[in-house]
Amino acid sequence: MNRRDLLQYGGIAISGTLVSNLVAARKRPLEHQRSAFKRSSANMVEVQLEASERRIRLGQTEARLLTYNSSFPGPVLRVREGDTLRLNFTNHLREPTNLHLHGLRISPAVDAPLLEIPSGGSHLYEVTIPKGSRGTYFYHPHVHGRVAAQMGAGLVGAMIVEGPLDTMPELRDAEEHVIVLKDLALVNGVPRSPTMMDWMNGIEGLIYVNGSRMPTIRAGKATLRLRFVNASNARYYHLRLEDHAMHLIASDGGLIEKPVALETLLLAPGERAEVLVQLEREGSFRLGHIGYDRGRHTMGNGMMGSDQASPIDQFATVLTLVAPTNPKPLKLPDNLMPVEKLEPSKATVTRRIIMKETMMPMGLFLNGKSFDHRRVDFSGKRDTLEVWELENQGDMDHPFHLHSYPFQVLERNGVPEPFRAWKDTVNLRKNDRVKIAVPLRDFTGLTVYHCHIVEHEDRGMMGTLEVRA
Ligand code: C2O
Ligand code: CU
Ligand code: CU
Repeated sequence: MNRRDLLQYGGIAISGTLVSNLVAARKRPLEHQRSAFKRSSANMVEVQLEASERRIRLGQTEARLLTYNSSFPGPVLRVREGDTLRLNFTNHLREPTNLHLHGLRISPAVDAPLLEIPSGGSHLYEVTIPKGSRGTYFYHPHVHGRVAAQMGAGLVGAMIVEGPLDTMPELRDAEEHVIVLKDLALVNGVPRSPTMMDWMNGIEGLIYVNGSRMPTIRAGKATLRLRFVNASNARYYHLRLEDHAMHLIASDGGLIEKPVALETLLLAPGERAEVLVQLEREGSFRLGHIGYDRGRHTMGNGMMGSDQASPIDQFATVLTLVAPTNPKPLKLPDNLMPVEKLEPSKATVTRRIIMKETMMPMGLFLNGKSFDHRRVDFSGKRDTLEVWELENQGDMDHPFHLHSYPFQVLERNGVPEPFRAWKDTVNLRKNDRVKIAVPLRDFTGLTVYHCHIVEHEDRGMMGTLEVRA
């Protein structure tokens, strides 16, 4: 495409069908529910959050979804480091649920993955947001066996923790967008019920961006800070932005040391990333999903070669960015934040976790076992460092996730990670061996680690970690 075609393409897109998406996106403000969010004093945020079934408008159609505060996705929870968050959660669903603040370094006593809030019940989640935890997180239900159904019906929302580092001019002056990627597999306006193969592969549906299909974001500024959240049950996003690099500035657990230019960004379920984009000329630029082969089972024990919905060479538009007139982007920050170097030689324990799925009979295992909440799989000691060796012996990708204790990836298949970053979710491809350093800081209690393809989690690919003083 030459420049004129590109402009024209942009013009058509804006005057055509995308307008409706734009309008829809505006009508669904994510952060508007003033009454449900209140800063009651300098360091206290009070939130009323309720889960309920609602009819939700999705472009031209309607769907019956499960929602937080009647919106899909749920409202963006925004807090600051050091805040006390008092989150009053009410369950108006017809079944038990609970709330998990995914990725936050908070006590398992608060973020209790095994707590069940019955239908009609409520629960107060009260927690102080730790210093140094600025970043992009999300919240979703965590009742074992119901996670895939509830998330699949729309129960997800982003959570942002702001910190002093957000005021560095290169970040502060960029235009921020929170981008919640959640697909929906609907049949006649209701989430489809999973088949046996769906439990095996995880359910994928049409991609929604903050509840809209292929929205257009008209940038007011030339430098964008995009906070991506992969809140999907099972879908991986392999993203590329037309004509632009994306500069990674933060992983799951916050800022990295300096920006890393990416041609493509892969986000496994549960992962988040923050990127800076410098729009250097006018026009419309599509952010596309370029396909990714995560391995899938078919009936008869075979494997499907590639991402069926989007073959590797395909570019499926996820959203479109429209640059402002005469854009003059900011320069990139040289440095972001020193990321603590952990000393794996000081680790007191080395653990192994083998992830594996089997097709006949169907089984989803960690170390050959299926989840049992009464069993303690690992006991650790508070304020010690552990090294965990994760290995994927299955035939498909599995994203490994640990609650409450962020970790750093040390090496993958013997190769040291290219840069240090705090993570809570790390993807393992078939045959991958990934070594992570896990500091069991600050908290005691019982928590979980699991595969974040939530169908796998529900079907047993989860274990327990008990940390004692
Ligand atoms: Cu986002 Cu235990 O999960
Ligand atoms: Cu989590
Ligand atoms: Cu898995």
